[in-house]
This record gives sequence, C-alpha cells and structure tokens, in this order.
Amino acid sequence: MVSSATRKSLLKGRVMDLITSTTVLSLLFGSLGTFGLFWLLQWMRTKAYLRNAVVVITGATSGLGRECAKVFHAAGAKLVLCGRNVEALEELTRELTASHASQRHTHKPYTVTFDLADPKAITAAATQILQCFGYVDILVNNAGISYRGTILDTTVDVDKRVMEINYFGPIALTKALLPSMIKRRQGHVVAISSIQGRISIPYRSAYAASKHATQAFFDCLRAEIEQDGIKVTVISPGYIRTNLSVNAVTADGSRYGAMDKNTAQGRSPAEVAQNILAAVKKKRKDVILADLVPSLAIYLRTLAPGVFFSIMASRAKKEQKSKTS
Ligand SMILES: NC(=O)c1ccc[n+]([C@@H]2O[C@H](COP(=O)([O-])OP(=O)(O)OC[C@H]3O[C@@H](n4cnc5c(N)ncnc54)[C@H](OP(=O)(O)O)[C@@H]3O)[C@@H](O)[C@H]2O)c1
Repeated sequence: MVSSATRKSLLKGRVMDLITSTTVLSLLFGSLGTFGLFWLLQWMRTKAYLRNAVVVITGATSGLGRECAKVFHAAGAKLVLCGRNVEALEELTRELTASHASQRHTHKPYTVTFDLADPKAITAAATQILQCFGYVDILVNNAGISYRGTILDTTVDVDKRVMEINYFGPIALTKALLPSMIKRRQGHVVAISSIQGRISIPYRSAYAASKHATQAFFDCLRAEIEQDGIKVTVISPGYIRTNLSVNAVTADGSRYGAMDKNTAQGRSPAEVAQNILAAVKKKRKDVILADLVPSLAIYLRTLAPGVFFSIMASRAKKEQKSKTS
C-alpha cells in the first residue's frame, strides 16, 4: 500500500518534472527562434547591401575581375566595368545582360575604358565613372599585372611600370572617388592584393613590392576614413587559375607569355569571386583566401623570420638551378 504522503511526493515530483521540461523546452525554442531571427535579419541585411549598389570593378576584362562582374551583377549591383579593352568590356556587358535578362533585380552595366598606368586618364575616368550613376558605393580595385625576373636583370622602368599599374593607379582612382563617398558618408573600397602582399617570393620582386605597398596603403586608409563611414576590405588571394602569369611582364619589359604550374593549379576564379562577394557583404576588413601552406607561411614570416628567409633562399637557388640546367 502506498501511503498518502508518498503519493503526494510522487505527484509533486511529476509536476516539477513537467514544469522543468516545459521551461527547458520553451527556453530552447525561444533561443533557437531568437537565433533564427537574428540569422534571417543578418542574411537580409547582407543581401540588401549589394542590391542596387553602384559597384566599380577595374580589370573586368579578364580572370578574377570578369568573374567578380558576374557575381556582383547577379547580386543585383549596378556595375561600372573598367579595363583597357573596349571590345572585351562590351562583350562582357552583352553576356551579363543576356544571362540575367529574365531577372528583375539586375541592371545593365556601364563601361569605362582607361589605362591605370596613365595618371591623366585616371582623373578623367573617375569623372566618367561618377557620371554613370551619380555616385559610387563600392570600388573594387582588382586590375593588376604580375612580373617574373631577377632583380639584377630588371630595369627600373619595369619596376616602375608594375608599381604604376598595381599601386599608383589604384590609389589615384581611390583618391579621385573618395571625396564623393565621404560627402555621402557611404562607401566601400576593396583592394585585391595577394598573399605576396604579405610574404615576398624570389623572382617576383616588383609584384611583391607593389602588393606590400597596396596592403600598407589600404590599412592606413581604413583607419583614416572609418570615422567618415567608409569601409575598406583588403583581399589577399593565393594562386588563381587566370592569365596573370601569361600577361606578366619580364625583366626587359616583354610579356612572359607562359602559364605557370602554380597558377594553372590555383583556385577557380569563379570560386574566389564568390568569396570576395561574401567578404564585401560582411564588410570584412582583411581576408586571406589561400590554402594552408601559404597561410602558414605568413605566420612563419612573422614568428620565425630566420626560418622563412632560409626557405626562400633555397627556393631561389632551386629555381635558378632549374633555369640554367
Ligand atoms: N591569378 C592569381 O594567381 C592571383 C593571385 C593573387 C592575386 N591576384 C590579383 O588578382 C587581380 C586580377 O588578376 P587576374 O588573376 O584576374 O589576372 P588577369 O586575368 O591577367 O587580369 C588582369 C586584369 O587587369 C587589367 N589590367 C592590366 N593592366 C592594366 C592597366 N595598365 N590598366 C588597366 N587595367 C589593366 C587587365 O585588363 P586589360 O589587359 O584588358 O586592360 C585584366 O582585366 C590582380 O590584382 C592580381 O594581382 C591574382
């Protein structure tokens, strides 16, 4: 026989169990709901960031710039595509317009043709860019050129040319467009640097120097203009499967004209463009888009520079040997 006291305590226990389980469940569902709502709002906010935003992309005629044009266009951005090759820009515009013709939220891109190595052309191009939509929300400084050669054989003119296209051109364009962004207290500047903006690889001196300068400049810019509401993102990719090495300049200024093994085995430009889009949407400040080994090399350069320098010296010796043999 169960006494009435035991029955009472059993009943009390069951009631307590029920209360605790419902409290736990409501707490669980409540937190999940809050998290879900937060996630949904974030998703909507990041999606809205690019829809109808005026995005300028330099170097849109080929490789990574071309793929960036595709993903930003599909995200609903109003594009201003820049490059030197008018036909290539027009062809890309036709392709983009045709591919998303049925979608309501895409816009027909404008094109602006100029050479980043020509300072006067940059001023005129900035005026033209601003005339397209009246303002710029996001500037993607993507255009660039690579270099192959030994420091001893390379003329200073070649060093200057690489710096002009990869560094002075992009910073001149940025400076020309910044006042209009600051006036609206709205804007986002993106610099496509490289892993070689963090570590220097032998026989790439001019390129690595131009990308180190890019990283330094845009890090300073980020700090200086944050108070004006302008964002800065520096992206440092590893190897990407593009024509960068084919279009690279050599010690005497001629075209390298060959696809490097590392470049051929690099990431797909479409995948990198998606990563760039995500980084811009999240307004990330500094992004490394590379595999484990190059990413670790950056830490090695900082934490154990002696080891890093020895590895680079033996790499230089090995490359020199393979060229002479
Ligand atoms: N591929 C890689 O492994 C890799 C890795 C890390 C970072 N990156 C960076 O990614 C960016 C894009 O390069 P990519 O790989 O796509 O190479 P790419 O296929 O050779 O494209 C380079 C782009 O830059 C433009 N450009 C070159 N010189 C120019 C100039 N004087 N004035 C204006 N535009 C110029 C080219 O346009 P036109 O020649 O048609 O004018 C082309 O659209 C570069 O900044 C590069 O440093 C590439």
